[in-house]
Amino acid sequence: MYFCVTKKFFLLRYILGVPLVHNVLCNNMAIGSIFSTLFTHSITTQVSVEQENAIKALELFISTEKDESISVKEICTIYIEKLCRSGNLSDAAYLLGHLHSRDINVCLNTYNILLTAIVESNNFSLFSEVFKSLLISNLPPDITSYNKVAEAFQKVAESDLVVNFVKDVCDITFGKDPTVINRIIFVTAKFGQIDKSLMIFKMLKNLDSKADTVTFNTVLAILGKAGRINEMMAEFMVMKDLGHIPDMITYSTLINCLRRLGRLDLCKTIANEMLEQGFEMDLLTYTALVDVYGRAGHVEDALGTFEEMKKSQHPSVYAYRSVISDLKRAGKFDLALRLSAEMNSSTTKLAGPEDFKQKRKSRWKIKQVG
Ligand SMILES: *[C@@H]1O[C@H](CO)[C@@H](O)[C@H](O)[C@H]1NC(C)=O
Ligand SMILES: *[C@@H]1O[C@H](CO)[C@@H](O)[C@H](O)[C@H]1NC(C)=O
Ligand SMILES: *[C@@H]1O[C@H](CO)[C@@H](O)[C@H](O)[C@H]1NC(C)=O
Repeated sequence: MYFCVTKKFFLLRYILGVPLVHNVLCNNMAIGSIFSTLFTHSITTQVSVEQENAIKALELFISTEKDESISVKEICTIYIEKLCRSGNLSDAAYLLGHLHSRDINVCLNTYNILLTAIVESNNFSLFSEVFKSLLISNLPPDITSYNKVAEAFQKVAESDLVVNFVKDVCDITFGKDPTVINRIIFVTAKFGQIDKSLMIFKMLKNLDSKADTVTFNTVLAILGKAGRINEMMAEFMVMKDLGHIPDMITYSTLINCLRRLGRLDLCKTIANEMLEQGFEMDLLTYTALVDVYGRAGHVEDALGTFEEMKKSQHPSVYAYRSVISDLKRAGKFDLALRLSAEMNSSTTKLAGPEDFKQKRKSRWKIKQVG
């Protein structure tokens, strides 16, 4: 008899040594009703001997569970995570897909555990299969899943494999917004693989209509941070040519990158274009302009911009310090002293790092999902 209730579920958890973190809300089908749905193979799918055995082993595992109140999803999750720990990754990958086809969907966390184990085992084709089945399951990947993609890319030598992976991801997400690819582009660059990231971007562009404003914003930031200003400006032109409307994030990304490289000329051009497009200067763009004017030795302009900023913003400590040091360098010690006193007397109102952080968060548009 399969399902006599003799053991409490916590005992099972104790034996397996896994804390149970998954909720019981979905796939709450009782174990008693599972076998009919789980193990009737469709005649059309080809199942290998190994796969057959993987299913049988899962079947056995479920049959030894005595607590009828435990959901199928929970017990399958426990089993798959056990496979991950014991390194039976192909079985785990196969079972995830199989369960999905039987409408039993494990949580994102289980996918992430499997992706992590596969990256460690260094098998890109298996990684690709599991990431794709995650996309097909309609669970939105989270930052952990994307980080694993970048780690997997780091370990793969042939770029053909990356190309095929990206093509498949594009196919799966066809007709949806390019969020998944955007995040892959972002995270790949974040892990230091700028060329791979740009290659993926090129693929996306060639599939026209796929890239969006977020894609371009991401790539502009990647190029700007890498100091590749000419390419950044070229992509900005392409972006507009393709009809993607630059937003405030586009402009502040450009201005901030240009500032860091001391490109006053381009900073002014972009700031003017931004104003012409009906956007207003914000804390970040003002601060960037003050900084770049100062670096170029244009003290009057730095001060003028700073005074203008005060009409609409609480200037940051950075902006104060930057103007004060500009003034000192230009020998205008009286003015420097006056601003220093002003800064001291208004410390409570000054914009701090949080104000910038908020900006940055919205700039990357990486939403926490899942
Ligand atoms: C994983 O594979 C090994 C052999 O490689 C086997 O001994 C072990 O029982 C398997 N683990 C599970 C949970 O099936
Ligand atoms: C990667 O995983 C696939 C699918 O399980 C397997 O067929 C292949 O042999 C593995 N490759 C390596 C290098 O381990
Ligand atoms: C501003 O505060 C700093 C540190 O508290 C002090 O050293 C400096 O003299 C002050 N400047 C003015 C102009 O009051």
